[in-house]
Amino acid sequence: MDKTVIITGANSGIGRAATIRFAKEGYHIIMACRNLGRGKPALKAISEETGNKTIDLMELDLSSFESIRQFCDLFKQTYSKLDILIHNAGYFKHGEKTYQLSPDGIELSFAVNAFGPYYMTSLLLDELKQSDNPRILHACSTNIRHFFEPKRIIEFDNLLGEKKHDRRYSSYKMYGDSKMALLMLNFQMAKELEEAGIHVNAVQIPAIKMTKDTMNKMKSIWKVAARLQNLFSAPVETMADTYYTITTSDQFKDVTGQLINAERKMVEVSHYSKGIIQDIKQFTDQTVYPKYAIDEKASKLLWKLANQLIEKREI
Ligand SMILES: NC(=O)c1ccc[n+]([C@@H]2O[C@H](COP(=O)([O-])OP(=O)(O)OC[C@H]3O[C@@H](n4cnc5c(N)ncnc54)[C@H](OP(=O)(O)O)[C@@H]3O)[C@@H](O)[C@H]2O)c1
Repeated sequence: MDKTVIITGANSGIGRAATIRFAKEGYHIIMACRNLGRGKPALKAISEETGNKTIDLMELDLSSFESIRQFCDLFKQTYSKLDILIHNAGYFKHGEKTYQLSPDGIELSFAVNAFGPYYMTSLLLDELKQSDNPRILHACSTNIRHFFEPKRIIEFDNLLGEKKHDRRYSSYKMYGDSKMALLMLNFQMAKELEEAGIHVNAVQIPAIKMTKDTMNKMKSIWKVAARLQNLFSAPVETMADTYYTITTSDQFKDVTGQLINAERKMVEVSHYSKGIIQDIKQFTDQTVYPKYAIDEKASKLLWKLANQLIEKREI
């Protein structure tokens, strides 16, 4: 197999299951993990289970532009082509009440879930262009459905710690905001990269079984809620299959700039009007996303900020 795929957060949960899925098909995989101590046993187990000997482990901390830069430099030294880039890693520490900043001074959820992946993609464009059908996938979340609430907006005025002392911090809200930002960046990137033939999509992930480690990162009541949610959640393998289908199948060969749900259907901007019945229908309809995702002003602001942050990094 001459196809190379990078999977971020490949040591755990959905990323680990996706690594197994690709490994069984004989892909060359780069497991991009922030903690090599957790990555090594995962690599060994996956390699033994699948018999795939073309799996590499590389260090990547998406909260740090420096780490992303180092990862990409190292990747370029070894590889000249990248076929699939799966931005699976995610930061969520529900219940955290103290404002968290990344080493680059960006709210941590935004650094890991939105701006880090954007920076990483920007550094790997040359290698993606060498593929005959390059595809990028962003792990989005059904959490963005909170944006059906008309007043919900991204806290643009608090992404660099501006209000960290005088505004209540909700890591749950910031997580949702950062996943909405990721979706907006997904739409804009797809437009920007269309001419280069790079396909960019996002997957809307519903509740999927979380590992013990993941639940332990959460605080207080959130941990209990996560345990309860796990009882009714789908196994990680179902989402790994969806990742695989979106990034490899002919069905999605020409699809770009989309949000795709767990049933592998395109999710469209909401068409529902106002009213309680409409609101209920909208919230339960997994084929629509909130209008805010295509809000022109917010999208432009986000695009500008993302580029300012990575340009600042380039200097
Ligand atoms: N499970 C769900 O119900 C659900 C629902 C909606 C969306 N999602 C999304 O699906 C994706 C996978 O989630 P999961 O449930 O499989 O969670 P998980 O098991 O906790 O995996 C998350 C992965 O991201 C890695 N990660 C966290 N911060 C990182 C950083 N700064 N740099 C690099 N890697 C980092 C983690 O590394 P460590 O092991 O070192 O912490 C881990 O490998 C995430 O983007 C999540 O937001 C999940």
